[in-house]
Amino acid sequence: MTRVLVLNGPNLGRLGTREPEIYGTATHDDLADACAAEGKALGLDVEVRQTDDEATYLSWLHDSADNGGPDALILNPAAWTHTSVAVRDAAAALTVPYVEVHLSNPLSREEFRHTSYTAGNAVGVVAGFGVDSYRLALRGLAARLAD
Ligand code: DQA
Repeated sequence: MTRVLVLNGPNLGRLGTREPEIYGTATHDDLADACAAEGKALGLDVEVRQTDDEATYLSWLHDSADNGGPDALILNPAAWTHTSVAVRDAAAALTVPYVEVHLSNPLSREEFRHTSYTAGNAVGVVAGFGVDSYRLALRGLAARLAD
């Protein structure tokens, strides 16, 4: 079965209580359940992980570039999107496609969120639809992987 790995960055484990007016009321567990259900409907095996530790996030990206890694990824690097050349470089070294996802639309928010270091190597970006951003990204990846 086609495997998709979803990697969520810092503070996304606080979903549900963190600034719900921006990020909604779904928890990270709700997000993971939504991804698994959407994946099942699309015939994808979806695994969702979250960390606040950049080294862990980098090691997941490194492992994903090795043989036996997933067939595609969805990355929400959260704040690292706007700060981390290291995450950008590890994402650039992936050999499978990835979609960058955001719950909010960073381009409609503070100016420091208008730069993404990590989107440049993505096959696409989905932002602003809350948890649906992940569902839409899974649909896009399923279509691309079927090509
Ligand atoms: C975010 C947007 C980022 O600007 C922010 O730092 C996050 C979440 C989003 O999903 O909307 O933590 O990636």
